[in-house]
Amino acid sequence: MNLESQAKGPEPLYERGVYISTYGCQMNVNDTERMYSLLEMAHFTPVDKPEKAELIIINSCSIREKPVHKVYSEVGRYQKLKNKNPHLRIGVGGCVGQQEKDKLIKNQPLIDFVFGTDTIDHLPSIVTSAFESLKPKIVNTQFAHRAPYHVETLVRNPGVATFVNITKGCDNFCTFCVVPYTRGREKSRPLKHILTDIEQLIQRGVKEVTLLGQNVNSYTGDEGSDFAELLHKVATETSIERIRFTTSHPKDFNQNLVEVMYAHQPKVCEYIHLPFQSGNSRILNLMNRGYTREEYLEKILMIKKAIPNVVLSTDIIVGFPGETEEEFQDTMSLVQEVGFETIFAFMYSPRPFTKAAKMDHQVPEEIKNERLNRLFEMHDLMAFDLVKKYEGQILDVLIERIDETGKATGRTTHNKLVHFLGAGEKTVGQTVPVRITRATPAVFRGEFESAN
Ligand code: SAH
Ligand code: SF4
Ligand code: F3S
Repeated sequence: MNLESQAKGPEPLYERGVYISTYGCQMNVNDTERMYSLLEMAHFTPVDKPEKAELIIINSCSIREKPVHKVYSEVGRYQKLKNKNPHLRIGVGGCVGQQEKDKLIKNQPLIDFVFGTDTIDHLPSIVTSAFESLKPKIVNTQFAHRAPYHVETLVRNPGVATFVNITKGCDNFCTFCVVPYTRGREKSRPLKHILTDIEQLIQRGVKEVTLLGQNVNSYTGDEGSDFAELLHKVATETSIERIRFTTSHPKDFNQNLVEVMYAHQPKVCEYIHLPFQSGNSRILNLMNRGYTREEYLEKILMIKKAIPNVVLSTDIIVGFPGETEEEFQDTMSLVQEVGFETIFAFMYSPRPFTKAAKMDHQVPEEIKNERLNRLFEMHDLMAFDLVKKYEGQILDVLIERIDETGKATGRTTHNKLVHFLGAGEKTVGQTVPVRITRATPAVFRGEFESAN
C-alpha cells in the first residue's frame, strides 16, 4: 500500500478562473448567473478580471447594432491575453451567438466556441470539449423546441431583490425586433415551479421578486393559468414582501390583471413598464404591435382608474422606417399625455431577419439622432416637474445597502432609488418609512422617519 498517497488524501481539484462579461437585458444578467453557477459546479472559480481567467465568456446582446460591435471589439482586446496563455478559451453566448453562429468564428478566429441562448445548461460539456480538443472551434446554437422550460433561479448572491424568469422567448414578431429569432418561441414555466423557486429565494433572504419575461402578461402556465392568476398566487401563496414584473405588452394588459394588482397593493408594486414604441397608429401597424394609439391610451385610462397612484414607464423607438415629422410628433404628444416618469428611448436600428430592415424609406441617422435628442429634452423637463410631488411624502423604502458612513440605499414601491440618512439600527432587507427631501428623475434623497 502506498502510505504516502494515503496520507495526502485525494488530489485537490484544479480550479480554473472564469470571467463572464454581460450585455443586454435582465434575461442575460440571469443567464450569466446561471452560467457561473453551472461552471462553479464544474470546478471553475469566478474571477473579477479577464486577466485572471482561463475561460472568458461574452454573454452578448443583439437588440441594436452597437452591442453587436462590442462583441468583436471586446474579443479583439483579448489578443494579448491569448498570446500570453495559449490555453485561454474564449466563448460567445447570448443573442449574438444565437444570431451569428459560426459566422462569429469565421470573422474572429480568437473565438473558440459559440453557444446559443437555449444551450446554457450544456455549457459545462461545451467548455470541457473546448479545453480538451486541440483545435477547439465549437458551435452549439440549437433551440430546445420540445423541451419544457424548467429553470430554477440559479443566482449566486440574490441580495434582497432579485429577478425570477417566468417565460422565455417571444411570439409577437414586432417587425423591428430580433428577439423572436434569438430567443425562440415563447415558453412558460409551470406555475408551481415558480412558487417553489420564490419560496427558496425567500429562505435566502430575498424580500422582493421581479417576475421576468419578454412579454410576461402572455404567461400561460400549466392547466391554462394566466399571468393574473400567477400574480395572485405569488401574492397569496408565498411570503414574499414585494412583487414586480417586466416587461408587459399593451395588447395583453387586461382589466383582470389590473384588478389583481390593485387587490394586492402594496405587495404588488404600483409600477408598470408598458412600452408603446410609437404614438402613431400607422407606424404601430407597420411595427405589428397589435394596438393603435387610441387603444394604448384606453389601456392607460383603465390602469389609472383602477390604480390612481400608479407610476408608468415606457420604451420608445424613434425613426422607424417611413416615420414622418408629424408621426414623430404623435410620439412626443403621447409621452406628455400619459405623463411617463421614466422613458427608455432608442433610435431605430435595422436588425437581421426582421421585416422592418427591408422596408423602404429608412430614416437617415442624423434625423433619428435629432428626434431622439428632442424627445429626451422634452421629457427631462417634464420628468423634473412630475417627480416634485414626492418631496415631503413619506414612502416605504426596502433597504438594499448601507455603507460605512451610515448612508442607506433602497427602492420605493414605485421603483424609485432613494438615498437616505438616519437608518440607525435598521438593517438591509427591512422596509422603513423615509421622508423624501429632494426628488429628481434619477434619484431621491430622504431621511428615515422614526415613529416618534
Ligand atoms: N419585450 C419587450 C422589449 C424587449 S427589447 C417589449 O415588447 O416591450 C427592449 C426595447 O428595445 C424595446 O422595447 C424597443 O424599444 C427597443 N428595441 C427593440 N428592437 C429595436 C431596434 N431594432 N431598434 C431600436 N430599438 C429597438
Ligand atoms: Fe421584441 Fe416585440 Fe417580442 Fe418585445 S414583444 S421581445 S419588442 S418581438
Ligand atoms: Fe439583448 Fe437578447 Fe436581451 S437581444 S435585450 S440580450 S433578449
